Amino acid sequence: MKKTVKLHDRTFRVMIPADELDRAIDRVATLINADYADKVGEGETPLFLGVLNGAFMFMSELMKKVEFNCELSFVKLASYSGMGSTGKVSELIGLRNNVEGRHVIIVEDIVDTGESMEHLLRSLEGHKPASVEIVTLFFKPGAFKKNFPVKYRALEIGNEFIVGFGLDYNELGRNFKDIYVVTNN
Ligand code: IMP
Ligand code: MG
Repeated sequence: MKKTVKLHDRTFRVMIPADELDRAIDRVATLINADYADKVGEGETPLFLGVLNGAFMFMSELMKKVEFNCELSFVKLASYSGMGSTGKVSELIGLRNNVEGRHVIIVEDIVDTGESMEHLLRSLEGHKPASVEIVTLFFKPGAFKKNFPVKYRALEIGNEFIVGFGLDYNELGRNFKDIYVVTNN
């Protein structure tokens, strides 16, 4: 692996190697397997819902470790400036699956302030799922400003900016198998 990488105007140094990510994903998959073995009744098929673009790589690794019958799909969150008091409107693009009465597990790359996840949770509510939980590869406890539970967190980090394994800096860095952190120079 490269020790440092340059993306646009910033330099990043390696922070979490791929094998450590793999062990963290293993731990979270073991928890999910145990929880859903009890929760899922006969004929019930939980739905893993990945949030594009960031979650694509985490989703792929996580799904290889899930041991119960499940479906998967991806959604994209569109935020754009618009009218209204907050000036922000978000919508779910691509939710084709029937979510009503299903156990849904949202798969995210990172929960930072929790703002985008809150929008997603609100949009999903309208589809009347049986339950919704969140599994995130990274969680920033120091930045999180919301009250909803983030049940499955593979790794917690400080308020630093990272790239790799799906995460980007202005669209670059998503393809790295290791995690890199921004440096001061
Ligand atoms: P939140 O709405 O503040 O929770 O931010 C969530 C989104 O910001 C994530 O889905 C990422 O797209 C992006 N983000 C937050 N922190 C990082 C980071 O450290 N690296 C790359 N993207 C990040
Ligand atoms: Mg994201």
